[in-house]
Amino acid sequence: MHARKIKDDIYWVGAIDWDRRLFDELIPLPDGTSYNAYLIRGSDKTALIDTVDPTMEHVLVERLEKLGVESIDYIVANHAEQDHSGALPRMLEKFPMARVVTTPKGKGMLMDLLLIPEEKFIAVDDKETLSLGNRTLEFIHAPWVHWPETMLTYLREDRILFPCDFFGSHLATSDLYATYEARVYEAAKRYYAEIMMPFRRAIEKNLRKLESYEIELIAPSHGPIYHRPEFILEAYRDWVFSPPKNIVVLPYISMHGSTREMVEYFVEALIEKGVSVKRFDLAATDIGELAKALVDAATIVVGTPTVLTGAHPNVVYAAYLANALRPKAQFASIIGSYGWGGKVVEQIVGMLSNLKVEVLEPVIVKGFPRKEDFEALDRLAASIAEKHNLLGLQ
Ligand code: FEO
Repeated sequence: MHARKIKDDIYWVGAIDWDRRLFDELIPLPDGTSYNAYLIRGSDKTALIDTVDPTMEHVLVERLEKLGVESIDYIVANHAEQDHSGALPRMLEKFPMARVVTTPKGKGMLMDLLLIPEEKFIAVDDKETLSLGNRTLEFIHAPWVHWPETMLTYLREDRILFPCDFFGSHLATSDLYATYEARVYEAAKRYYAEIMMPFRRAIEKNLRKLESYEIELIAPSHGPIYHRPEFILEAYRDWVFSPPKNIVVLPYISMHGSTREMVEYFVEALIEKGVSVKRFDLAATDIGELAKALVDAATIVVGTPTVLTGAHPNVVYAAYLANALRPKAQFASIIGSYGWGGKVVEQIVGMLSNLKVEVLEPVIVKGFPRKEDFEALDRLAASIAEKHNLLGLQ
């Protein structure tokens, strides 16, 4: 396992986790992931940018050994989450003279999470610099990307940004660079949806903060390096700043076919009125794909049968997720069925309290949908199309 050269004296020394299929025991990883770490040799000092997940610390150790690294002066911890910081104790054992460079908040968190002694740290302020001799590291505080302690590191002379999670993608690939942009775009969008979207306001501020930096490479700690930074910066600007698009996201589940019949009809009605639809059967869907669809959707319509007076548990989970991810949707509604009673509308609307959505007239039917129910679905589709048109959504 060799280091991979990026420029003279700058190397990728990370680990590719080809087989990991779940992150935080929550987020599906259909394409695996990587934990990128980078070694920078200056004329006086050597720095390691981030480490790797503790399960793969042997990979980091081997790459450093093959590179002949005998000492490290600084280990930059941009982020305290264990997939990047987890190998710090092993690194400090191997390089006892190294100091961990992080934000004041990061220092506290790493002391708590990894029990690293206080004397091992150098806490840096926003915009503070650290010289490696002929190279300079600048630390850019970027709170809430996606934890409160996060920072980015900018290597001034080489114009390389090391943003850790920011701009990352869960993508195991042998490509060091994002050469296959269409594939990386999908993985990065999914990553943004799952990890960054709840912090859209903070992301917005941090994107603006980066405008004053000249950046030649963006080297995140998940997924390939961006040798064309504008590709991922432009994508983020769209996801964060642009208005939502003329899209309905429709997560649903059906137990005996009534809700499915409504969903089938409703999807056609929306298409006929010029609205794009992304439909997800929650009995089978990859929840990450649903999260990704929420990035752009102007409207969320939830389809559910009634179970024990409430929505189906899979629908409750999807509504909880949508509320937690705080997408930019502006409208919501509920369609579905019941056998003898229930309160699904009150329940689902109550669960979307984080979203600033206008709730459009729900369509809830008793038993199998009849003619008047299909007409109500037509009216809901027309209302959504009209709302989207009035806002000029594309
Ligand atoms: Fe990749 Fe927030 O850790």
